[in-house]
Amino acid sequence: KKPAGAPDKALAKPVTKVGVIGAGLMASQFALLFVRRLKVPVVITDLDQGRVDKGLDYIRTEIASLLEKKRISPDEANRLNALVTGTTDKADFADCDWVIEAVFEELGVKQDVFADVEKHVSDTAVLATNTSSLSVEQIGAKLAHPERLVGFHFFNPVAVMPLIEVVKTPKTDDATLSTAMVTAAALYKNAVITADTPGFVVNRILAKLLGEAMHAVDSGTPFEVVNESIKPFGLPMTPFELLELVGLTVGAHVLDTHHAAFPDRFFESENLHRLAEHGKIFDRDGKGRITGF
Ligand code: CAA
Repeated sequence: KKPAGAPDKALAKPVTKVGVIGAGLMASQFALLFVRRLKVPVVITDLDQGRVDKGLDYIRTEIASLLEKKRISPDEANRLNALVTGTTDKADFADCDWVIEAVFEELGVKQDVFADVEKHVSDTAVLATNTSSLSVEQIGAKLAHPERLVGFHFFNPVAVMPLIEVVKTPKTDDATLSTAMVTAAALYKNAVITADTPGFVVNRILAKLLGEAMHAVDSGTPFEVVNESIKPFGLPMTPFELLELVGLTVGAHVLDTHHAAFPDRFFESENLHRLAEHGKIFDRDGKGRITGF
């Protein structure tokens, strides 16, 4: 079934080389997905070689693990390893026809990243952002061709979660939207088209859940009580487990964005900011099992 609002597939542009900006965990996870599913060259970049190498190491380790689990053959593992490269030179993005970023969630940083990328790619390359709650239109404010920018929002863990939010700005053209939808299908994901509003759909709803859970703690109920109380609802993870999965800094940022947009409907949480600095909510044993707070 054609997703609501999806333009004609025939308008989609071919994706023959992918550029990934940001080599953090989420970017590395989707870089692996692009190479595995599209089978095209994928080049990743970050601020320095150390970060690029860390991203490449993650991808190569995951390819080795897929091989060990016999999900891919030795030949395919070799092919995937050869298709993924890292660089600190954006000139290597010149022949990318799809570039996606997952850099720090700060509007100015993302605007500058895209303004810079545009100097290196062709006028027809599609640009995508994995922002979790910033305005995609504003992210493209410095672009000469904002019509080729689209939101392409993955969820953690990327390999497992089936959804991608494709965020259409008032400027996104049909060829770009169609390319995003066809690309999402090629990644074996379910894509939905959402409006360019704070948190899109999923994070808007999650921010309520996470915000209310943190607010209960801020109001004086201990973490462990809030955590236990929500377990009978049968969610795959409690809000606190989810916060650790997406990263406390990202989680705090998502709540801040919602509070800024809708101050009467979303809380700010001092405890969440403190935890983001502290780096964790749960104590865990060597195998990652929760042992306390
Ligand atoms: N990273 C990568 N893969 C992971 C993973 C992780 N952190 N955790 C689990 N997996 C994989 C496992 O390797 C396993 O894959 P295989 O079958 O290929 O081996 C698969 O997921 C299932 O794992 P398990 O059986 O061990 O675990 P589970 O049944 O407890 O499910 C889960 C794990 C899928 C993560 C489940 O707990 C879940 O769905 N949690 C909720 C996740 C969620 O809501 N994500 C959205 C977050 S919001 C967001 O990301 C948006 C944003 O912008 C901030």
